[in-house]
Amino acid sequence: MIASPPSLTSPAPASACLALTRRTLRVAVLGCGTVGSALSRRLLEPPVRARVELAHVLVRDPRRDRGLPPGLLTDRFERVLDGGPDLVVELIGGLYPAGAFVAEALRRGIGVVTANKTLLAHHGAELHALAREHRAPLAAEASVCSAVPVLAALARLSAAGITRVRGVVNGTCNSILCAMADRGWSFEQALADATRRGLAEPDPHADVSGRDSAEKLCVLASACGVEGLVPDLVRTEGIERVTLEDIAEARRRGRRIRLVASLDLRGGPRACVAPTLVPLGGPVARAEGPENVVLIETQRAGTFTLRGRGAGPEATAAAVLGDVQATLGLGPIPTMLDASPVSDDRCRRHIRVRGPGHRLTPQHVSASLGRAGVRAIEVELGTAAVRIETDRASEEEARAAADLLAANAVGDSLIMPVE
Ligand SMILES: NC(=O)c1ccc[n+]([C@@H]2O[C@H](COP(=O)([O-])OP(=O)(O)OC[C@H]3O[C@@H](n4cnc5c(N)ncnc54)[C@H](OP(=O)(O)O)[C@@H]3O)[C@@H](O)[C@H]2O)c1
Repeated sequence: MIASPPSLTSPAPASACLALTRRTLRVAVLGCGTVGSALSRRLLEPPVRARVELAHVLVRDPRRDRGLPPGLLTDRFERVLDGGPDLVVELIGGLYPAGAFVAEALRRGIGVVTANKTLLAHHGAELHALAREHRAPLAAEASVCSAVPVLAALARLSAAGITRVRGVVNGTCNSILCAMADRGWSFEQALADATRRGLAEPDPHADVSGRDSAEKLCVLASACGVEGLVPDLVRTEGIERVTLEDIAEARRRGRRIRLVASLDLRGGPRACVAPTLVPLGGPVARAEGPENVVLIETQRAGTFTLRGRGAGPEATAAAVLGDVQATLGLGPIPTMLDASPVSDDRCRRHIRVRGPGHRLTPQHVSASLGRAGVRAIEVELGTAAVRIETDRASEEEARAAADLLAANAVGDSLIMPVE
């Protein structure tokens, strides 16, 4: 059991209490594919269902089994609206009918959460204007880099004066470029492998042509306060023409090739997506396989790097749920902790005992470690200290070994986990 923190003397803010105690908040989900089904399951599970009621799930064919209570499914958007949702989550994708549904919800003052970068890249300005006009929140964190909170970071950092945003925002292209560099596969072989492993869509054109990255760049631009950037204005080159020779040449020059989306805000916005030679070992080159990485450069607070998996149903559903939480003012979703947290803290550890090593014989060391139940991988009896790298050991075992050794040496000891 984790003890509750002591209560604070002042009461919680009235508005937050109001939202939580008024009634359960009703959420409707539009689309029940990869992300929509993962989100719907989360909404039906504790602890989320205690705060949010899943009102409807809009699909094309409500007769198909989706592992959800059949009463939730409908193919009629009017029925969703009639259910009086506080929030609509759009996970259909594309422009139509997703855009019409989002616009109608906003016109009725219903908040919207969406993961749809295509819709935002082409119609973000109109939809944000509608949201302002009808005082309805519109949130879209999952539309760029899934659960990596890039839009939230941009919102926070705007006060620091954002000068440049760039990085890898398409995991499919990154997986292909990594497979070409690491396995010596051609573009076609790497693409076929990515498709087989579910890392590329059956129609990968939007990814490999750079269009997906250009759309995400438009969403990033909007989060930086740039108005009017649409995909047609982004100079875009995909990865289809990158050859193995290009990759070998990049390596000879100490570089790797990454599909970099870049928005430069110094002296008027310039946006482009292009295969780029980036320094080996630098933050952009370190994005491996399906990872995304975004660097945010600011005038007053330096550069920030965000990196993580940029797609996947669970991660994307978590990002959407984060927007649902924030939009409805729900506060953090409690982590479900295991009731019997006997977590294994065994790991490799570095034990340092100060004092000359000559005071300790190898026999002393092995007897002390043996008594503590610790196995050494490496022992160094130095002139100023004894250093031992252990095999997997608990903190308690390592401490017992260090105490036994320190009793034979002269100084104190330090134990550090080795990662
Ligand atoms: N997948 C990811 O990892 C990921 C990551 C970040 C962002 N996103 C974004 O999340 C959104 C959803 O992606 P997804 O991968 O979950 O797509 P998906 O698997 O293709 O699912 C789309 C869903 O929309 C439903 N739908 C399509 N047209 C409809 C209509 N006219 N009326 C009602 N429902 C309709 C489909 O219904 P049926 O099931 O009946 O066909 C399906 O359930 C997209 O905007 C995507 O860009 C996805």
